[in-house]
Amino acid sequence: MAKKRTVFVCQECGYRTPKWAGRCPECGSWGSFVEEVESPKPKRQRRWVESEISEPVPIGEVTGKPQERLRTGIEELDRVLGGGIVKGSVSLFSGEPGVGKSTLLLQVAGLLAEKGRVLYVTAEESPEQVALRARRLGVESKNLYLLAENNLEAIAQAVEKLNPLFAVFDSIQTLYLPEIESAAGSVSQVRESAAFITNLSKRRRLTSFIVGHVTKEGSIAGPKVLEHIVDAVFQFEGDRGYNFRILKSLKNRFGSSGELAVFEMTESGLKEVPNPSQFFLAERPKGKAGSVIFAGIEGSRPILLEVQALVTRAIFTTPQRKAKGISPNRLSIIVAVLEKELGIPLRNFDVFVNVVGGVKVDEPAVDLPVAAAIVSSYFERPVREDVALFGEIGLTGEVRRVKLEEVREKEAKKNNLKTFKSIKTLKDLTKLI
Ligand code: TYD
Ligand code: MG
Repeated sequence: MAKKRTVFVCQECGYRTPKWAGRCPECGSWGSFVEEVESPKPKRQRRWVESEISEPVPIGEVTGKPQERLRTGIEELDRVLGGGIVKGSVSLFSGEPGVGKSTLLLQVAGLLAEKGRVLYVTAEESPEQVALRARRLGVESKNLYLLAENNLEAIAQAVEKLNPLFAVFDSIQTLYLPEIESAAGSVSQVRESAAFITNLSKRRRLTSFIVGHVTKEGSIAGPKVLEHIVDAVFQFEGDRGYNFRILKSLKNRFGSSGELAVFEMTESGLKEVPNPSQFFLAERPKGKAGSVIFAGIEGSRPILLEVQALVTRAIFTTPQRKAKGISPNRLSIIVAVLEKELGIPLRNFDVFVNVVGGVKVDEPAVDLPVAAAIVSSYFERPVREDVALFGEIGLTGEVRRVKLEEVREKEAKKNNLKTFKSIKTLKDLTKLI
């Protein structure tokens, strides 16, 4: 028998090298290389490709039918999905363990089972566990089938036999293809398994959701290597300390990315939160320094979020800058501009900033509320209560215009807040604090 060749594969990005390395030259991750047995390309897949050789077609002759979509009936979810799940598409549903992926997808499976047969492949939990959870969630449909199996070949056979409309594969890290020799959960297995499911779905017009776990440090056998295989990537986030969860579309071939929906984890599963602004502001402290409302945009919808800052005298010679919900770079620049333009000696102070609710904001419009929160905390004077702010801050302290200002203003107004377009430079902040 020929000697087995092994190769080291970066579990973050899939980079391959014959020699072990401490740091991946491709993505820069440390300690991410794992030895895997090099296996020949699965023969079966090649056969499918050969049997489906395509001919080039003039673009004018391609008649595109509008995408048929499966609506779950959970409105917030359907919106993030782009108006429902496109029939025959494959989506990755990623998130940390315990965030509620299996719970939400079991609810979705139950809802879609009203329209046709649904297969829930449970490769992590026993059918008893899943059935018990289904009962708690009030999911009971004759059309919902459970399959406890890890071997994708066997799963494919079950799919051929059952011919379901919709299938959930929970999770990609526990599924395997027997012809690939590395362990379940390794990059090779994860990638080939996802390609296998995609192939199966496209051939059978099966709509699939693949569950993928990620860890806090990034991803193990990461959903990153899967992102270009699947049609859409949805991320489920949430802090264990809170009951709410945020669903975001990171990539969507059939809809817009960046859409966001909020869910609340209850005794009977996940419930949509139709008005996230009210939800995020519910516990806002009144009359406290360092708290400002940000009129933000997530995807296509406006959302009001509370930004908090805490400015305290520095303990060490190098002052601390800690940011949760915004990038540390953004915070450093805002602090530098505040120091220069307003003459606040922040070099002697630690600055902590937090976007309440665990939402990650990556639009420049958050600059102004962050700056206002820092100034307010520094002077220990609250910002006017009826204010919601947005605006990018330039390096000379000017406040720049941002996208969708009218939409932000409307959302603020709906919640009885004013947006103060008269704030043109950082110096104008004194009008509010
Ligand atoms: P789960 O869906 O198993 O997470 P994942 O599949 O992402 O690993 O959710 C696990 C948590 O959700 C668990 O800590 C219990 C909680 N939970 C509820 O609070 N209410 C419920 O109705 C259910 C089913 C779970
Ligand atoms: Mg699970």
